[in-house]
Amino acid sequence: MTPSATPPRSLTAIVLAAGKGTRMRSDLPKVLHRIAGRTMLGHVLAAVQAAGAGRIAVVAEPGREDVDAEIAREAPGAQVFPQAERLGTAHAVLAARAVLEAPDDDVVIAFGDTPLISAETFLRLRAPLAEGAAVAVLAFESPTPTGYGRVLTEGSRVLAIREEKDASPAERAVTLCNAGLMALSGQHALTLLSRIGNDNAAGEYYLPDAVALAVAEGFSVTVVPVDEAEAQGVNDRVQLSIAEAAIQARLRRSAMLGGATLVAPETVFLSHDTILGRDVVVEPHVVFGPGVRVADGCTVQAFAHLTDTVLEGSVRIGPFVRLRGHAVLETGAELGNFVELKNARMGPGAKAAHLTYLGDAEIGAKANIGAGTITCNYDGVLKHKTTIGAGAFIGSNSALVAPVTVGEGAYVASGSVITDDVPADAMAVARGRQAVKPGWAKLKRAALQAEKALRGGR
Ligand code: UD1
Ligand code: CA
Repeated sequence: MTPSATPPRSLTAIVLAAGKGTRMRSDLPKVLHRIAGRTMLGHVLAAVQAAGAGRIAVVAEPGREDVDAEIAREAPGAQVFPQAERLGTAHAVLAARAVLEAPDDDVVIAFGDTPLISAETFLRLRAPLAEGAAVAVLAFESPTPTGYGRVLTEGSRVLAIREEKDASPAERAVTLCNAGLMALSGQHALTLLSRIGNDNAAGEYYLPDAVALAVAEGFSVTVVPVDEAEAQGVNDRVQLSIAEAAIQARLRRSAMLGGATLVAPETVFLSHDTILGRDVVVEPHVVFGPGVRVADGCTVQAFAHLTDTVLEGSVRIGPFVRLRGHAVLETGAELGNFVELKNARMGPGAKAAHLTYLGDAEIGAKANIGAGTITCNYDGVLKHKTTIGAGAFIGSNSALVAPVTVGEGAYVASGSVITDDVPADAMAVARGRQAVKPGWAKLKRAALQAEKALRGGR
């Protein structure tokens, strides 16, 4: 199902994000750990929005400004509800009681530490509600169900979910596991959740108890299947790396199906927002940090590292380039090995083929930047801009001390240290004049050898 097929029923998503996640051994709250350049909470908020949630409630530990800021960034308009004490998943959902008192048609409960659930899966999870189900639970078959709540069934009927701690040996043998996420009809959600008690081994209010309560009311409860891999939660850094690998596999696949060639896909690392156009070729060992767009027909050679960068059409870069801090390469621009750009724009067809740093710079169309050129953009306190006009030629090993402008079509002689503006079509040379002393080296060598002989050859 695609997001465009969303039924015209209103949807609230309640995202549970409280808890420090102590097994992460981190100063950062668990849900702010990143995969593919986006926080886990960000992934979940993006998925529920893509699934059509018009209203979002996030239940979070109180007083975490970093979590609040992330919610505001990823889901502007989401309401945040503090859960001061961590008394269980049902208790957490009830922290957002206000949204359940004026319910939408459908409510989905998502977990901030279960970042791989796709928008499509949230749509599948809510779909039974439109058919009259009061509760839908997401579940998977696992040969190793230890730790998960078990979905207890009788024939095709769901009876209850039993947490591992409370399960009998027979119940522990059940391999159908609760993924944790749930959809509830808005009409019944508050009534069911309010009845959940904490008379269990953990003394917690268990959200999955909504199933048995719904069954007792004679409501229909549906199990929606999901892959175990997609339902994977993140509780420690090993699981974080597993989730990263899963998201990378997804991103690579969609880049390739979108028309990009990844020569060795397992060595290319993408961000959640990386855009690769048609006929883009990415050679092995390339890292795309957040904010990169590569237009059709570009080639990214091996060992490139790009963040916050736009490559317009048919750009060729690498191998070994680093682009960051808003780098823009216009159509047909080229960068060769060991070139770094930071906050710099290369005009159409401009080239920097080797060993160059261009920071806070504007390079005109078809300008040629020689090997070893450096923009000296930083004076120790402030950053300054370098402007190089269209068709200018910067000789190798030049230092351009910003703020400075080299006019259109101007030449800068190799090895110059340019501190003053160079007018259009001028030539600037700023280095010591060459002196040649005929025979000097031969005489010097002879003198040195005589000296060595006097010292006994040592
Ligand atoms: C939960 C399910 C279990 C399921 C498993 C799947 C319950 C009681 N159990 O167990 O059946 O198999 O997920 O991974 O729901 N949270 C709060 N406040 C709380 C408690 C939890 O915000 O008071 C949040 C956590 O931050 C987390 C989510 O709810 O994002 C799940 O809580 P967690 O304690 O990890 O539940 P599990 O024991 O994994
Ligand atoms: Ca968990």
